Amino acid sequence: MITTHTTPWPNRQIHLLFSIALSSLLVLGTVRIILDEMKSDSNPFLKLVYGGGNRHNKVIMRMPINISKDELIEEGCNLFEGKWVLDNISYPLYTEESCPTLVKQVTCQKNGRPDSLYKNWRWQPNSCNLPRFNALKLLEILRDKRMMFVGDSIQRGMFDSLVCMLQSVIPREKMSLKRIPPRKIFIAEEFNASIEYFWAPFIVESNSDNALNHTVKKRLVRLDSISNHSKQWEDVDILIFESYIWWMYKPQINATYGYPPNVQEYNVTTAYRLALETWADWINTSINESRQKVYFMSMSPTHLWSWEWMHGSDGNCFNESSPIHDNLYRGTGSNIEIMEILRNVLGNLKTDVTLLNITQLSEYRKDGHTSVYGESRGKLLTKEQRLDPKNFADCIHWCLPGVPDIWNEILYAHVLKDYHLKRIKKHNPPPF
Ligand SMILES: *[C@@H]1O[C@H](CO)[C@@H](O)[C@H](O)[C@H]1NC(C)=O
Ligand SMILES: *[C@@H]1O[C@H](CO)[C@@H](O)[C@H](O)[C@H]1NC(C)=O
Ligand SMILES: *[C@@H]1O[C@H](CO)[C@@H](O)[C@H](O)[C@H]1NC(C)=O
Ligand SMILES: *[C@@H]1O[C@H](CO)[C@@H](O)[C@H](O)[C@H]1NC(C)=O
Ligand SMILES: *[C@@H]1O[C@H](CO)[C@@H](O)[C@H](O)[C@H]1NC(C)=O
Ligand SMILES: *[C@@H]1O[C@H](CO)[C@@H](O)[C@H](O)[C@H]1NC(C)=O
Ligand SMILES: *[C@@H]1O[C@H](CO)[C@@H](O)[C@H](O)[C@H]1NC(C)=O
Ligand SMILES: *[C@@H]1O[C@H](CO)[C@@H](O)[C@H](O)[C@H]1NC(C)=O
Ligand SMILES: *[C@@H]1O[C@H](CO)[C@@H](O)[C@H](O)[C@H]1NC(C)=O
Ligand SMILES: *[C@@H]1O[C@H](CO)[C@@H](O)[C@H](O)[C@H]1NC(C)=O
Repeated sequence: MITTHTTPWPNRQIHLLFSIALSSLLVLGTVRIILDEMKSDSNPFLKLVYGGGNRHNKVIMRMPINISKDELIEEGCNLFEGKWVLDNISYPLYTEESCPTLVKQVTCQKNGRPDSLYKNWRWQPNSCNLPRFNALKLLEILRDKRMMFVGDSIQRGMFDSLVCMLQSVIPREKMSLKRIPPRKIFIAEEFNASIEYFWAPFIVESNSDNALNHTVKKRLVRLDSISNHSKQWEDVDILIFESYIWWMYKPQINATYGYPPNVQEYNVTTAYRLALETWADWINTSINESRQKVYFMSMSPTHLWSWEWMHGSDGNCFNESSPIHDNLYRGTGSNIEIMEILRNVLGNLKTDVTLLNITQLSEYRKDGHTSVYGESRGKLLTKEQRLDPKNFADCIHWCLPGVPDIWNEILYAHVLKDYHLKRIKKHNPPPF
């Protein structure tokens, strides 16, 4: 049987998409951050950075940033086309235990997930290789810089993932993670590098901007207002934006645009375009490309309906323990119109913003979600809730270690390349 996907806005889907997403959005406000159990003394790199193993030694050696040819993405290689390859030697890049800053929401093993293969997949692009992630190199590139992830809880997962990927090379007393809502700030002291997360689920302003206590159902988006947010992003060296799931509650959304700020219902696609243009305008006028770089993450796919990959079934991502291997697979949770808007707006910018198009590669990973091994409204699911995956499985957020680590490896590949290009430019400035 061929399933038809012609209705652009099947109500049940949009509704579900959002209500599940919400269950874990409140977490930011409820997590205490404890840094303990860090055991990184044995790492040979640290001896190098911190001077012969004496971690109290004030003299820090700077690593020269050497980027070899095979660490640079080859010209013309599309990193986003490829396949998942099982690799339990190199993956996971860290463990739940080695990353004490991980929040309960994503530590699926600790929360009782019985299978673990989901942590062992490497993304293999078709026509080139991803460079091996090197935390010290990234920290050295980020020396005296700020990097900031802006978006919703999906984006927060990516931030949490990167913080874990970096921790293995930093002694515990040389790092800190602070929560100053709407921000989370990770600092690698010895590098004076700051990696941050900023809660802005619509990017533009809305009545959901309180990171600790946001209205969930009666959302109201201010499509032409961004300055309250953007003034906190202004001087950030590397910015990574994302916004999707919060728009997808109903086909329409209440919003204001222009003056007087009358509330009107907008089609979600129209509203998304207007919001993105407000953002684009800020990018055009505020980003200085000689010292700043901007990325945009495409939508993170959902796996809410198992009939999409297994005809005749009636479940969701629960119980899924391996990726989809059909490379033509495409779920209906990723809205094509929104993708087109993204393409149009990014394509019309004065500034060069790099789209990290992780949608398709993540589309295959029906096994990567927290499912019933996460939280609902800031609390781990109860035994009873776990037995009811139809209502309680979270097929939007991802386990860590897991899929967002690969997004960060791709981001890393781009950061290396940008750094390299900038260095070449500096040493060989154009004639005029
Ligand atoms: C890794 O995978 C191989 C082949 O599937 C398997 O034999 C081996 O036991 C696995 N190792 C670990 C540590 O899981
Ligand atoms: C530390 O980094 C910030 C940017 O995040 C920069 O403004 C400041 O000058 C740096 N401090 C030193 C001592 O270099
Ligand atoms: C959250 O916000 C609502 C509406 O503004 C308010 O009524 C409620 O008291 C707030 N809750 C907390 C815990 O601050
Ligand atoms: C922006 O911040 C100002 C001052 O804090 C506040 O008065 C205003 O309401 C905010 N604007 C929006 C759209 O939230
Ligand atoms: C917009 O707001 C009105 C008034 O609060 C409400 O009745 C309506 O359902 C809202 N529309 C949407 C799409 O949420
Ligand atoms: C809003 O969406 C509906 C249904 O998809 C469509 O018929 C209508 O033309 C759209 N309105 C606008 C203003 O784009
Ligand atoms: C950004 O700048 C480009 C090139 O000048 C222009 O075509 C585009 O319309 C601008 N976008 C916005 C939203 O201002
Ligand atoms: C952009 O930054 C560079 C380096 O800091 C500076 O020299 C230049 O004047 C800036 N350009 C603008 C338009 O502010
Ligand atoms: C989950 O998978 C196991 C093993 O494949 C199977 O026995 C069980 O029936 C599945 N449960 C559900 C709810 O699909
Ligand atoms: C992202 O990739 C998908 C498929 O891999 C493609 O369909 C889509 O158009 C791409 N998005 C943009 C904005 O280029």
